[in-house]
Amino acid sequence: MSISNEITLAKEAIQEKMGEIPSIAVTLGSGLGALTEHMEDTRELPYSDIPGFVQSSVAGHLGSLITGRIDETEIVCLSGRIHLYEGYSPQQVVFATRVLGACGVKTLLLTNAAGGINPSFRAGDVMEIVDHLNFSGKNPLTGPNDDTLGPRFPDLGNIYNGNLREKLRQSASDTGLQLRSGVYACMLGPSYETPAEIRMLARLGADAVGMSTVPEAIAAHHMGIEVAGLSLITNLAAGISSTALSHEEVTLAARDASRKMIALVTSFLGKLHP
Ligand code: HPA
Repeated sequence: MSISNEITLAKEAIQEKMGEIPSIAVTLGSGLGALTEHMEDTRELPYSDIPGFVQSSVAGHLGSLITGRIDETEIVCLSGRIHLYEGYSPQQVVFATRVLGACGVKTLLLTNAAGGINPSFRAGDVMEIVDHLNFSGKNPLTGPNDDTLGPRFPDLGNIYNGNLREKLRQSASDTGLQLRSGVYACMLGPSYETPAEIRMLARLGADAVGMSTVPEAIAAHHMGIEVAGLSLITNLAAGISSTALSHEEVTLAARDASRKMIALVTSFLGKLHP
């Protein structure tokens, strides 16, 4: 079956069960699932009920599509994301993002947990993604291009939309959060980086490092969806921090710091309200 047929099947299943899907979407990263606790009138559809959706195998990544309202803004959340390091193809990793695009999503906020590389960053900081370095070795646009989805060679010059970044900065100022800005480096994982890799990434211009977001950002931009990205700095990257990295530490730190990120995201989504 062609990718656009698979997308159509998933879209029809979602619309049949959930009705119309809001035009603003949020992908929830590690430990940021708490955003859904602040939503009202929620409806939830497990990924297992959507044809073509795969379930994440990672602790802290529930797999369901959740619609609802946050303050006055209707949103749809992808609660649970698929990562390249789980062994899925880049096309599987971005399938849910593409289906949201087919359902009419125009704006996508991608969130993640990341390690801080910039020496001024501290655990608990929030960073707007200004640009990325794709070191995953994968790109979701490889293979035949479906011209109905987007162009063969999309320009990524403004992949993290300038207007949305301006709104993020306004929201940070409204909520009293010191928002960091920086370049996000995407590694394949699942091992954390070595100190030498972090020194390399620092020299190449990375401010934060993680294992997600970039595939979805590329696929969404390819489809003409406006993309914004936020990283919650859950730890200092290898070699910068003297302590060993663990997924439990990252998840715990994300949970602690997620309150201010939720305030920021709520304010930001309010500014998108038509
Ligand atoms: N490296 C890669 N991914 C991460 C990190 C890190 O230090 N922290 C959270 N996700």
